[in-house]
Amino acid sequence: MREVAVIGVGMTRFGELWSQSIRDMFAEAALKAMDDAGVKKIESLYVGCMSSGLYTAQEHLGSVMADYIGQRGAAAVRVESACASGGQAVRAAFMEVASGACDIALAGGVEKMWDAEDSSMVLATASDQEYEAYSGVTFPGLYAMMARAYMERYGLTREELAAVPVKNHKHAINNPHAQYPQPLTIEGVLKASLVADPLRLMDCSPISDGAACVILCPLDKAKQYTDKPVKIVGIGSASGPIALHDHADFTRLDAVRLAGERAYKMANVSPKNISFVEVHDCFSIAEIIVAEELGFFEYGKAGKAIANGAGTYGNGVVINPSGGLKAKGHPVGATGVAQVIECTLQLQGKAGKRQVENARYGMAQNMGGSGGSSVVHILEAQ
Ligand code: COA
Repeated sequence: MREVAVIGVGMTRFGELWSQSIRDMFAEAALKAMDDAGVKKIESLYVGCMSSGLYTAQEHLGSVMADYIGQRGAAAVRVESACASGGQAVRAAFMEVASGACDIALAGGVEKMWDAEDSSMVLATASDQEYEAYSGVTFPGLYAMMARAYMERYGLTREELAAVPVKNHKHAINNPHAQYPQPLTIEGVLKASLVADPLRLMDCSPISDGAACVILCPLDKAKQYTDKPVKIVGIGSASGPIALHDHADFTRLDAVRLAGERAYKMANVSPKNISFVEVHDCFSIAEIIVAEELGFFEYGKAGKAIANGAGTYGNGVVINPSGGLKAKGHPVGATGVAQVIECTLQLQGKAGKRQVENARYGMAQNMGGSGGSSVVHILEAQ
């Protein structure tokens, strides 16, 4: 396999983007990424998107986007793995460049969620239709069950759980693309309306519109395009049970652990080498369990550690310097690509006020459903 680098990034702001259609958002992100890399021609394009059909009645996204960004003729296809669609698009583009089949690939992600009449129904199509969605349970409900199991087993208090979104909002203040760059307090989390006990509004990632794109090329050609290529050194992907009731343990996410192990093995690094990690905090409990599955904390320890100041600057691995899904926003198909963008900016030293100093390795972890899929990327500064 050839070595592969990210040479350009571009994204929209995340939020309620009423004036932009799904193709407008994708084009904004794609053209910014192409400008950033200084490339005019894309050979192959992957579009991560969970549900453009239900959200906007538009399928066939690969061709739609290739056409709309002026790349008619390029190989173009959509990639779907629920909320992990974006991360899987990056993985697919990586594989194509690594194989030698093409030199310039664009991996993008997009979702336009605010156009749907019932976003919860659309999201629930990523759960088990016959057992979960049919019974009326939504993703906040599923993650609430995980939170309850974790809190009872490990004695995590409601106040300690609130430390996760408080930290992520603090990070998002320095992210110009964030949907909710406002400070948040523990009291603010505890007073927010109840969504699915014990999860409140401020434990939940929001409904978001947005798009994100990266350009990949072989590492040995990357310097033709940028002084600061960032190498993708590890990728791991895994599937898990589609239904929460099929997890052997509600406090674990096996697909995340497997994807992480595969990425660490490929990169030949361990958690102690990682300076920062973008994790899939779709709900505050998810960040805690994911941080444990990726080996940054022992089981049962991440929640209390974050409540005691871990996960932010100057205290070990920085978790979600971008603000994460909670505060940056979660246009589901775009999320995994936006995580890779944050890693790239950090490793290029271009993350502004949220810069993690002296970072050599960064990690991005993207997840579908309640752990039905996960993909992990490890990137290295050059
Ligand atoms: N964080 C911060 N503020 C939020 C927010 C969030 N997650 N979600 C909504 N808000 C704000 C809105 O901006 C709005 O503010 P305003 O009154 O000043 O305009 C207010 O809270 C109410 O928003 P609204 O859109 O009416 O909330 P809602 O009750 O319809 O939806 C959730 C809230 C949590 C149910 C919804 O965001 C949700 O379903 N999130 C989970 C998405 C999900 O499952 N993703 C996939 C993960 S696997």
